[in-house]
Amino acid sequence: MNTALCDGIDWVGYIDWTVRDFHSYVTSRGATYNSYLIRDEKNALIDTVKRPYADYLLRNIAGFLPLEKLDYIVVNHAEIDHAGSLSLVVKAAPQVTLVCDAKCQNILKAYNPEAEGWNWQIVKSGDTLSLGKRTLTFLETPMVHWPESMMTYVVEEKILFSMDGFGQHYASSNRFDDEVDVSVALAEAKTYYANIVMLYGKQIQKTLAAASGLEINMIAPAHGVIWRSHIDKILSAYKEWVVCKSKPKVLVIYDTMWDSTKKMGEAMIDGATRKGVEAKLIWVRASGLTEVATDVLDAAVVAFGSSTLNQGMMPMMGAALTYLKGLKPMGKAGFAFGSYGWGKGGPEDVDAQLRTMNFEMLREPLKAQWRPTPEVLEECRAAGAMMAEKALAMVAVQS
Ligand code: FEO
Repeated sequence: MNTALCDGIDWVGYIDWTVRDFHSYVTSRGATYNSYLIRDEKNALIDTVKRPYADYLLRNIAGFLPLEKLDYIVVNHAEIDHAGSLSLVVKAAPQVTLVCDAKCQNILKAYNPEAEGWNWQIVKSGDTLSLGKRTLTFLETPMVHWPESMMTYVVEEKILFSMDGFGQHYASSNRFDDEVDVSVALAEAKTYYANIVMLYGKQIQKTLAAASGLEINMIAPAHGVIWRSHIDKILSAYKEWVVCKSKPKVLVIYDTMWDSTKKMGEAMIDGATRKGVEAKLIWVRASGLTEVATDVLDAAVVAFGSSTLNQGMMPMMGAALTYLKGLKPMGKAGFAFGSYGWGKGGPEDVDAQLRTMNFEMLREPLKAQWRPTPEVLEECRAAGAMMAEKALAMVAVQS
């Protein structure tokens, strides 16, 4: 495996081929925890890996230099997938100095009681650290992805260690964007963005603005492949994602008990199907929350449907709306639909939740009792056609 970003800077992380869950995010292509080793007059490690894989990290470092020669560990982010093995690395190399910002130090101390005795160098945006031939500069990037997060830039080689930013949960034996199918890397970057940082779009815009003054030859995130040949593609994708830019795309997301709500959703998709519009039906119980969030990121109009269960919405629709409410997709339109029997509640419950999520509400809930009649299905087709028209109009306003 080619681990060299350039002469003296190598990837020393861990490829997690089999992980399928990242705090409920379904990582269908696995993950990597990227750690990077810079060998210079002073040697620096950029981040570590998840705690169970500390031995792999230590072995990878030892392949380049004795652990007692490690001078610094730059901690860009305190989350456990990157900082979880810090205490084991410090134990193996007690001479190291940890380099991080003040908020990061506080979090690391909370997770590691023994950290009081560690060597620390606290930095802030604009600070520099000379390693000899190379200089590191630091850029605090709060909420990308935690309040303490920062990025580290190698001035001489123009490499940006971007932490979670531009990352992908994508296990691969190759380390670079030009060694894999870039469309897969971009798709995984979109899934990552939608599920991890969609709600921090404004903060990421600030990060992009701050980083725009940097010449960048390589973006080395903490997950997935390193961007070196397709930097333009990932940057332009981020510029759209940070504002949740909508495509002419219509989603019908539903859960159903005995297929009445499904039939309504199918009729909506039927009505929304036209040239120039992407229409997609998602059964939330089959597709899951990760796919739902990813698809909502660039959709214009979304109808959410649920049968009625215990006078409310179905549980997985509740989970989907709770998840999306937290991720705060911006600038979307939609409405609720669904079926009921003797007691109402499912579509109304969905409608009430959507109204708390800043969706532009396109209509009152579209409902069917027991089975949708031909008239109700015709109303669903008309609603689908309206969704397609609305999506095209929204995209026209954006551009
Ligand atoms: Fe990859 Fe926010 O941790």
